[in-house]
Amino acid sequence: MDEHSGPALEVLGLGKSYAEGRRRRTVLRDVGFDVAAGECVALLGRSGSGKSTLLNLLAGIDRPDTGEVRIMGRSVTGMGEPELTLLRRRHIGFIYQFFNLIPTLTVAENLALPLELNRMPAARRRERIAELLGKVGLDGREGAFPDQLSGGEQQRVAIARAIIHEPSLVLADEPTGNLDAHTGHRVLELLSHLFRDEGHTLILVTHSREVSAIADRIFAVEDGQLTERTEALSW
Ligand SMILES: Nc1ncnc2c1ncn2[C@@H]1O[C@H](COP(=O)(O)OP(=O)(O)OP(=O)(O)O)[C@@H](O)[C@H]1O
Ligand SMILES: [Mg+2]
Repeated sequence: MDEHSGPALEVLGLGKSYAEGRRRRTVLRDVGFDVAAGECVALLGRSGSGKSTLLNLLAGIDRPDTGEVRIMGRSVTGMGEPELTLLRRRHIGFIYQFFNLIPTLTVAENLALPLELNRMPAARRRERIAELLGKVGLDGREGAFPDQLSGGEQQRVAIARAIIHEPSLVLADEPTGNLDAHTGHRVLELLSHLFRDEGHTLILVTHSREVSAIADRIFAVEDGQLTERTEALSW
């Protein structure tokens, strides 16, 4: 998978609806787009427009009714559960609005999890954890528990966790949604620097007005469809 030379992500004719009583509610309809390796794509859209649904389909957490998702040239849609688990473990990183760190584990233990799952030896794990903590500005905080950190600090740990195993694709669902404006801005800046540095491909759902500063491309999710925005953003 690593020698793949095409787009990092290909989405073809994706459709998804949910049952609601006796009717079906169509959330996404014939959605298609490609994302090149190293690109940062932002998804904007109203609450309920289908942004999280789309991310879940991209990661194979949810299955589409129609269409296909390919990550590094491989069809996620055709994969069984064991293969999907491996794909996520090796090639996908997640960042959530509510950080989702494991509260009973220290910062270092939270960061070690993706590496343990990928069987990295303990000495290399320690090095990689220290390196990533340095990159997110949290040198020496290995032993802290999540509730001993501020929201912005927790999100920086979560960002480090999302990229510690060098995934091909990082999916971030409103990573600044639970932070004050100033902290949110700092976290976005950090994301953009880190991602340029490490060459990750990022799909970022956000309501932040500052997203145009960090995204290469911006898509609006509206009425089940995705439209690329090229004009200056006014929200
Ligand atoms: N598992 C599910 N079962 C039924 N309906 C669902 C399910 N998941 C999502 N939906 C519906 O799909 C629509 C899109 O939801 P989604 O969570 O993707 O929106 P969103 O754009 O992420 O919104 P927000 O900005 O509030 O997070 C909503 O109308 C929601 O009710
Ligand atoms: Mg959502």
